[in-house]
Amino acid sequence: TKPLRLGIAGLGTVGAGVVKIVRQKSELLAARAGRPIEIVAVSARSRDKDRGVNLSDYAWEDDPVALAKRDDVDVFVELMGGSEGSAKDATEAALALGKDVVTANKALLAHHGQALALAAEDKGAVIRFEAAVAGGIPVIKTLLEGLAGNEMTRVMGVMNGTCNYILTRMQATGQGYNALFEEASALGYLEADPNLDVGGIDAGHKLAILSSIAFGTQVNFDGVQLQGIGEITLEDINQAADMGYRIKLLGVARMTARGLEQRMTPCLVPDTSPLGQLEGGTNMVVLEGDQVEQVVLRGPGAGEGPTASAVMGDVMDIARGIRPAIFGRPAHELVAATVATS
Ligand code: NAP
Ligand code: HSE
Repeated sequence: TKPLRLGIAGLGTVGAGVVKIVRQKSELLAARAGRPIEIVAVSARSRDKDRGVNLSDYAWEDDPVALAKRDDVDVFVELMGGSEGSAKDATEAALALGKDVVTANKALLAHHGQALALAAEDKGAVIRFEAAVAGGIPVIKTLLEGLAGNEMTRVMGVMNGTCNYILTRMQATGQGYNALFEEASALGYLEADPNLDVGGIDAGHKLAILSSIAFGTQVNFDGVQLQGIGEITLEDINQAADMGYRIKLLGVARMTARGLEQRMTPCLVPDTSPLGQLEGGTNMVVLEGDQVEQVVLRGPGAGEGPTASAVMGDVMDIARGIRPAIFGRPAHELVAATVATS
């Protein structure tokens, strides 16, 4: 049977994790997909860096756009990051040639999701991005497929592993931001610019993506009311704990009579509640729909294994011919959301 041939751009935390899975689980993946999954070519900034994986079997491209355009690449896997530059250029190049794309890049989707979905549909391609939201938790698949019979009423949760790690570790150890940044970095949690994490922007990107799928609106990151955790002190955390609360960076999106409301802000939650009990890099997403009332998903929100797991879930869908509409309905039917102002 015909193999599915991947070109992977970005060999950092997530990219190296994906290479490891494809190499170590090739028989299992082929059995489940009904066809072999092969990496044919890779790209990163530095060719010489030791990434803990054997890359000698794969062609090397310095330029991710050239990788995306290779004739022997069926699926372009974008794991570089950033909403502009190489990630955007190479993704657009792949879609223009009708190649499917898998990405973990929430910044790219939050800023250009609508245009990319239109470009993909124009060529009969798909762009899949399970890893972009809540790491290893299959939240997008759940919304696109399992909950497709619902009208969604609210989507909420803790969606940034770094912030949850910092907030919970500050309380547990009394350490400050700098030491905890180093720990989060060693765990592979941080964005290339950690201000995106601490500023709530990364979590805002994720909420905007989920809102689009849940409410049938075009991704509207500018409509997210944002506040990060950078001004929260150990004293704030301890005072909240004395009163029986934890501070969490909590996202909430719902469709109101006034329009789409999207907020990503630090909130107090009872320390005995499921949200209050979330430790470290764990995420939790709560999906509310008219038929199910509430579905709660909890799991690792960042790091190599969980994120690579989500990327591979998308690759496997493509290998099996599973192609739901990119944001849950054809992109030209997604409406521009009216933003509810408070
Ligand atoms: P990373 O460790 O910084 O890796 C980025 C990779 O991209 C590196 O291999 C880098 O090359 C390569 N790269 C960057 N710019 C490039 C360019 N212009 N041309 C070629 N290669 C380029 O980042 P990461 O943590 O793996 O994250 C990758 C993506 O996944 C981002 O969109 C991120 O938001 C997303 N994501 C990450 C996580 C996580 O937990 N880490 C979770 C979910 C989603 P060099 O290695 O040579 O520098
Ligand atoms: N920096 C992100 C986080 C990675 O900490 O949640 C996962 O998207």
